[in-house]
Amino acid sequence: MTAIAEQLRLKLGVVGKGGVGKTTVSSLLARAYAERGRHVVAIDTDSNPNLGLSLGLSLAETEAVPVLPRAAVVGTGGTTAAADLIAEYGRPTPAGTTLLSAIKVAAAGAGCTCGGHATVRSLLADALVDVDVTLVDMEAGLEHLSRSGGTLAHADVLLVVCDPTRKSVLTAARTSALAGELGIPHVLGLGNKARGPEDVEFLTAALGAEGITVAGVLPYDPEVAAADRAGDVAPPPLAPAVHAALEEVLAAVEMVHAGPAAGR
Ligand SMILES: Nc1ncnc2c1ncn2[C@@H]1O[C@H](COP(=O)(O)OP(=O)(O)OP(=O)(O)O)[C@@H](O)[C@H]1O
Ligand SMILES: [Mg+2]
Repeated sequence: MTAIAEQLRLKLGVVGKGGVGKTTVSSLLARAYAERGRHVVAIDTDSNPNLGLSLGLSLAETEAVPVLPRAAVVGTGGTTAAADLIAEYGRPTPAGTTLLSAIKVAAAGAGCTCGGHATVRSLLADALVDVDVTLVDMEAGLEHLSRSGGTLAHADVLLVVCDPTRKSVLTAARTSALAGELGIPHVLGLGNKARGPEDVEFLTAALGAEGITVAGVLPYDPEVAAADRAGDVAPPPLAPAVHAALEEVLAAVEMVHAGPAAGR
């Protein structure tokens, strides 16, 4: 891989409080990168996986995505191995991305999901070398920043999704601190579900007060919520305001990724 290709390669973790829109945002970003011709792998790490639905798969197709076994990743390295891994465990989606499922709780009392978290850590560390954008939709909570040596320890940029509530901002602040301890080079806030300028102001000010730069704020869009309820297979066209906010987020991510690591 050339130095330029290496530089363009982006490993993005999408985190935040429960229900703020991590899966929705992950799918929108994955789609946007795929539309730009990038080779995108989206990884679902939720033990109750549903990223596939947001990427346009049916429920049956989402549930049929095989869980990536730890043994398939350990000791991987090199382009061929990554391609084999994607061919065997990845599933193409109507959004133009490949979906990998890393964690699934198939039965009650089936045990912890540490193995799955370690798998994702290894994937980000060295397995997916020929992929342009690796995007990880994380389960809610902070455990992924401590568990198995930090599931997202090898991410380049962490996007902390926040809805306009104090509690989601508080989660973002805690997340940002843990990310700093793990050595993740960049953390950006991403506001979601803003219903007006006052929500945008709140998110920008509250995240700013925690030292978190806001990459962009996506509006609350009834079409996004309706598509989720309907379980549409084809992702709906984006409203112009959502599209514009996403463009802002992509530009902010690109800017920090191209620059030096934040001194935290
Ligand atoms: N910008 C938006 N406008 C309207 N509705 C939205 C928006 N973003 C997300 N939603 C809705 O909010 C709900 C939660 O979204 P989503 O499942 O993406 O959140 P999450 O953070 O992944 O949740 P979890 O913590 O359970 O994984 C869904 O019904 C989704 O359609
Ligand atoms: Mg989710």
